[in-house]
Amino acid sequence: MNIEFDLNGRVQKVVITSVERAIDVLTRQCGIKSLSGTCLEGLCGTCLILLEGKPVYSCLMPAFMLRDHRVETTEYFTKMREYSLLNSELTKEGSALCSSCHNGIMLMGMMLIRSVPAPTRGEILSSLSNVHCDSIDPDDFADAVLKIIQHLGIARKMP
Ligand code: FES
Repeated sequence: MNIEFDLNGRVQKVVITSVERAIDVLTRQCGIKSLSGTCLEGLCGTCLILLEGKPVYSCLMPAFMLRDHRVETTEYFTKMREYSLLNSELTKEGSALCSSCHNGIMLMGMMLIRSVPAPTRGEILSSLSNVHCDSIDPDDFADAVLKIIQHLGIARKMP
């Protein structure tokens, strides 16, 4: 079947079968490199995408559910200032991200940084339940996200 969806700000048209998963279509047909299907069971979070701004495991999602939706992957954010800020804050905090968790952690971070209204510390910490990463300290992650939100808030108010 033919489906169309918005992928990282561009219209994407693909031909899929009824048994394909979203991760398969995104990686094989759409050239998305940030996703890896480590467990394919909804356990690791290496396949996280944002569907209409909400985190979804693309390994558990049938591809046809992408139809007519807005999908964002980490690639969408990598050139944004907020992404660089988050990356450098996490490095400063000593939370070097392992390559397998990088996608999920950065995607959660960008989702939170863009949230309106700004998330609470509790919401930031609970977002990590989507990513099963042993290398990041949840408090470091929350500190980094809150610092950037505060920094951006101040920058936006300046004339
Ligand atoms: S590949 Fe592990 S949650 Fe999707």
